[in-house]
Amino acid sequence: MDLQKVYVGMSADIIHPGHLNIIHEAAKLGYVVVGVLTDAAIASYKRLPYLNYEQRALIVSNLKGVGEVIPQTTLDYVPNLEKIRPAFVVHGDDWKEGIQKQTRQRVIDCLSAWGGKVVDIPYTQGISSTQLNVKLKEVGTTPDIRLRRLRRLLNAKPIVRVLESHSGLTGLIVENVSVDVNGRRQEFDAMWSSSLTDSTSKGKPDIEAVDLTTRLHDLNDALECTTKPVIFDGDTGGKIEHFVFTVRTLERLGVSAVIIEDKVGLKKNSLLGTDAVQTQDSIEGFCAKIQAGKRAQVTDAFMIIARIESFIAGAGLEDALKRAIAYIGAGADGIMIHSKDKSGEDIKQFCKELRKVHSSIPIVVVPTTFNHITEDELAAWGVNIVIYANHLLRSAYPAMVNTAKSILTNGRSLEANDLCMPIKEILELIPGTR
Ligand code: SPV
Ligand code: MG
Repeated sequence: MDLQKVYVGMSADIIHPGHLNIIHEAAKLGYVVVGVLTDAAIASYKRLPYLNYEQRALIVSNLKGVGEVIPQTTLDYVPNLEKIRPAFVVHGDDWKEGIQKQTRQRVIDCLSAWGGKVVDIPYTQGISSTQLNVKLKEVGTTPDIRLRRLRRLLNAKPIVRVLESHSGLTGLIVENVSVDVNGRRQEFDAMWSSSLTDSTSKGKPDIEAVDLTTRLHDLNDALECTTKPVIFDGDTGGKIEHFVFTVRTLERLGVSAVIIEDKVGLKKNSLLGTDAVQTQDSIEGFCAKIQAGKRAQVTDAFMIIARIESFIAGAGLEDALKRAIAYIGAGADGIMIHSKDKSGEDIKQFCKELRKVHSSIPIVVVPTTFNHITEDELAAWGVNIVIYANHLLRSAYPAMVNTAKSILTNGRSLEANDLCMPIKEILELIPGTR
């Protein structure tokens, strides 16, 4: 008689004795099929795993007791269960509580159709992926792993969520802040190294006056204390002869992508729109810059994203699309389309038209003015990366001004207590302060 099938679903990013125990127990019941969650399935409810699906599947298929490995492409077990109709599903008993409770119930209901059963294995005490994760974060990352992470995120997520960082502290916020929304952990996927906030935090205008060496020196503070990928705002990219060096420097640091905008002359911040003179580069001129950058890059994963300023400069949809098609032809790995229009309609139209001719080129947007549009809506338009470009600096500044005013008004700092982080908390914020 054929052995009965036993199904085990796991992410298997950091294999520990708890996993081995579950497989060991499952093997006592029959032929073990492990459904390894794909990157997309994992990214739908928590951070991207350290190892990619192929690596994790390879490891699991070599564990004692595993009969075969198949991909589990959703958090929900049901599609795989219906395919293989196992007699048992084996899982750690921790899924009886919390958000996994519903998943377990769906498994029980599904198995009942053919008399299958759930077997809950007592949780292995003293070891957890969460603890191991904290330890791994302390170890940090390498430039190469960080650099490649953005492409992995693009493959795994409907939309990659990016927040501005201009210091070590803001880097830590992007790295660590998370919230639970309906049982799903929401966090930022990557950092945006913004020219606006880098310049503003130094009391300088956003006109490429803060030089590249200074910006990279400061970016290093965030690189030192984080593991998430970085998208670098390369402004105009400067002269072609200089841009090729910028590309290599960014790659060496482990930056995943640079976004360069198709402007020439004295660069002004895009949100000034036509209130400032904003001159676009010729299509040929900007294509030459993209091509030179692509030729200069050393890794295959680094991305050069072309930013189109047609809407900012007062040119229309047709110009923006013509440029997008030309820049993609020149080798751009993605397109950022920018606008200061509040409705978001121009961006929506652009995405719709570009998707007719390029179904998968990553599209990046910066919804500072059209910020009533949700991430889900942007994703439905075909957007792959959303950048919240300046929000940490913009929220910090009024908070600091209020504290300064409170001290001046009262001649002491007591009244500002509630505006400030408690001393105890700031001393505990950074590990190693004590
Ligand atoms: C930045 O953050 O510096 C940008 C985006 O380039 S914007 O300020 O909207 O131009
Ligand atoms: Mg900028």
